Amino acid sequence: MNTSLVVGVLQSRVRVEEKLLLAELEARGVEVVRFDDRAFFLDLTAPDPAMARCHVVLERAINHLRALYTLRVLNDWGVPTVNSYDVANICGDKLLTSTALERAGVPAPRTLIAFTPETALEACEELGYPVVMKPAVGSWGRLLARVNDRDAAEALLEHKVTLGSFHHGAFYLQEFVNKPGRDIRSFVVGDQTICAIYRDSPHWITNTARGGVASNCPVTDELHELSQAAARAVGGGVVAIDLFESDRGLLVNEVNYTMEFRNSIDTTGVDIPARIIDYVIEVGEAERTRRTALVNEAALASADD
Ligand SMILES: Nc1ncnc2c1ncn2[C@@H]1O[C@H](COP(=O)(O)OP(=O)(O)O)[C@@H](O)[C@H]1O
Ligand SMILES: [Mg+2]
Repeated sequence: MNTSLVVGVLQSRVRVEEKLLLAELEARGVEVVRFDDRAFFLDLTAPDPAMARCHVVLERAINHLRALYTLRVLNDWGVPTVNSYDVANICGDKLLTSTALERAGVPAPRTLIAFTPETALEACEELGYPVVMKPAVGSWGRLLARVNDRDAAEALLEHKVTLGSFHHGAFYLQEFVNKPGRDIRSFVVGDQTICAIYRDSPHWITNTARGGVASNCPVTDELHELSQAAARAVGGGVVAIDLFESDRGLLVNEVNYTMEFRNSIDTTGVDIPARIIDYVIEVGEAERTRRTALVNEAALASADD
């Protein structure tokens, strides 16, 4: 039996990135099935036939929880995804990312986790000011705080506890890394570091979503090796790594699993969507081969009966 490749795309609102990825998939002539996370529900006991027949699903949802739950269910149904549930779970949580980097021996800013305002204050003193306080789950630089002294730490912690939500049951605290007015973002696709950008900003938060300006960053051997180590630490796939240049050399800040890349294509001259789709097709082809072999085995077994 020889079926053609079926690629699913999990999406919500279609951003520039998804448009580029979909156009690339169309150009490859594979069958593309789109799943909008606002339009379906998942029945855990009955695999959705349209989803289950995909050889691979590319996850491009915007909401972390929707992505995470859908990936868990798809993986349980035996559908490979880019990225896998495990990668999304680790990357979506800064503490899980930090522990994964630590386990793998990847250099990173010193990070502490505390569970009460009192112990968080002790942890700040232990780190020494300034410290960076972050929501463990979040992105685009939202709700990040640089805390310069104990007075500020006390006030911030009180606000978090009084106004806070579920996420404020844990305080993620990090040494402030004195970067040279920029940081680095590298793009990893499988075992390749396809390109990297500097993000320059007069502000210590350099996210392009917050006004950071992108320019090309050469992929040195050091950057490649560290990016690979960071990607492997979280389970690999298609990820973007945030790195800081520091006195101790490059440090990995975080790993992003559904990255935006619109500002990095012209900047680097690398066709990022094409490289991502190469990888997605590779994963899908491996699954298609595996399924074909299973069908052939079953046919042989029934012929023996
Ligand atoms: N420990 C730190 N020291 C210095 N700058 C930091 C630190 N942590 C974060 N930043 C700055 O804030 C930005 C956003 O932080 P990040 O941890 O990547 O969160 P987000 O998921 O919101 O992007 C980083 O890209 C970096 O510019
Ligand atoms: Mg970031």
